[in-house]
Amino acid sequence: MKNFLEILVFLPTLIVGISKFQQQFQKLSLIEDCVVSPTTILKDNEKYYRDEMGNVFCYRKQHDGSLKLGSTSRSFADPRFLCAKGEMNWYRGRRNVAFDQKPCEFWNTSSIQQNVKPTKSFSSYSMRRFLLDEYENFCRNPDDWELGPWCWTRNGGALEKTPCFQPCSPKLFEGIFICLNKWGFPYKMGDFDLTDIMDLPELVGSFKNVQLQFENRRLSDFPVFRYQTKTCVNSGKIAENFGPWIAVLDGKAQEFIRDSGRRTLWELCTPEIREKTPIIRIEQSEVTKRRVAIQEDEITAADCTFWRQCFSACQDDTKLCWKKTDSSYFGAKKTSKFLETCLPWTKSAALILNNKTDEIYRFLLFDGDPQNYFVENRVFLNTENFCMNFRKKSNSTHAKMQKLWNQTRSETSPENSLDFETEFEKVFQNGPGCFVQKNEKLVIFESCFQNCESILEPVKEPKITQNICKSKKSGKWDFCKNPEDENALYRGRRRRKPKNGEK
Ligand SMILES: *[C@@H]1O[C@H](CO)[C@@H](O)[C@H](O)[C@H]1NC(C)=O
Ligand SMILES: *[C@@H]1O[C@H](CO)[C@@H](O)[C@H](O)[C@H]1NC(C)=O
Ligand SMILES: *[C@@H]1O[C@H](CO)[C@@H](O)[C@H](O)[C@H]1NC(C)=O
Ligand SMILES: *[C@@H]1O[C@H](CO)[C@@H](O)[C@H](O)[C@H]1NC(C)=O
Repeated sequence: MKNFLEILVFLPTLIVGISKFQQQFQKLSLIEDCVVSPTTILKDNEKYYRDEMGNVFCYRKQHDGSLKLGSTSRSFADPRFLCAKGEMNWYRGRRNVAFDQKPCEFWNTSSIQQNVKPTKSFSSYSMRRFLLDEYENFCRNPDDWELGPWCWTRNGGALEKTPCFQPCSPKLFEGIFICLNKWGFPYKMGDFDLTDIMDLPELVGSFKNVQLQFENRRLSDFPVFRYQTKTCVNSGKIAENFGPWIAVLDGKAQEFIRDSGRRTLWELCTPEIREKTPIIRIEQSEVTKRRVAIQEDEITAADCTFWRQCFSACQDDTKLCWKKTDSSYFGAKKTSKFLETCLPWTKSAALILNNKTDEIYRFLLFDGDPQNYFVENRVFLNTENFCMNFRKKSNSTHAKMQKLWNQTRSETSPENSLDFETEFEKVFQNGPGCFVQKNEKLVIFESCFQNCESILEPVKEPKITQNICKSKKSGKWDFCKNPEDENALYRGRRRRKPKNGEK
């Protein structure tokens, strides 16, 4: 009973809801809020300036009635981030409220510079440096504060250095992933802007063996997306399904090429159907060019790149079981529900393609799937070993596949091969899973989560954020020394709200 009550209290703080998430991106910068200034530094007689990203800069009235040029007109809580993972000193987003929703003061508030020794600018890349630091009130971490991005808030007359996010719970500090709010996934370009974090050196630099995406002169007339820098990419099939990704060429990728051969790679990446489309070019067909590219290691340009996700979803990272109604997974779990370590997808794919696993997997993922999900969405080129969720298959697809399997297997299959129904269910219908090595010979697909419905004890949703405390002595925000500290902001567990100005 006690557990059950705790869930009821925890859930509301955890679930934001997709529509609320979307709403928070609307009406961010309203021209209507701008005030005409007699001495505008903007273009003559204009009261606002709109940049390419749609941000509006304009004059706004301050507490004291004076006008100040500002970069956003409304407070914005940046729902992409649920908590601060580490210092997050790369943060260049537009959040301008503290973790307790208090509005941030402009950085130029005169008395504030004293205690902070910035190692960086407060400015924002995403604002394209149109404005100087002093005109902004975005959360930043110019002094590498361990509580992450922060801003000055007003507590009566006094200014207070206040964190903008609560820290992520220590469980989420594992691994190098930056986790984002699941409600934005897969963060397709145009829906929720990620341009401020896609190519951060701090982010991209944390990925090992990341491949510089380059243009090859010999292939330059061939129409694919190309990227000149190391960056997370937010287009194409991979992004549509799994969110931003980054090209990787590491040992696992080399191993795949060695084990499966370039020919297999080109056949998978340039299926026959594309050869049938009329090619206007004179010399080489697109397919041939792609094949040449793969042959010559220009795999990125051939739209056939090895990859990994750039972000995980915070909610999925703390997931404990899989509900029947759950439909997507973007977490970074690397173990099956029996705690076996997942194999990288490139490794699993190579084993399957070389007939080193039960033939059912080759059928389910490569030859027998009418949607061709595993190949089309480039899952077989994923160098990571995170659990992945394949889209559920309809009853009619199921029937089609079952029939085909009955025909295919009758000639060749050994007696002891795996059961179609069981494997179909695990691979497509039971949520995220991965391949695991059961013993020297046996590689098998396993689900990564128990079904929540099969667990009798109610499951307590883990907490994503960690409480922070105000030190009694200094009055400054810090990690809580003792979770039962009387100054802790108890979120959920006790329904007690911090009183204003509480020390
Ligand atoms: C920023 O602060 C400086 C010094 O405190 C002041 O001279 C300047 O006018 C301020 N700028 C704005 C835009 O308030
Ligand atoms: C694996 O089996 C399939 C047919 O089931 C065959 O087409 C393919 O060539 C085999 N691959 C290898 C590497 O033996
Ligand atoms: C699919 O089949 C299952 C049982 O095999 C059944 O419960 C379900 O209603 C079917 N769905 C549709 C859309 O026909
Ligand atoms: C496939 O074979 C199984 C038994 O081996 C049988 O139960 C099932 O009805 C068959 N399905 C189709 C579509 O032929």
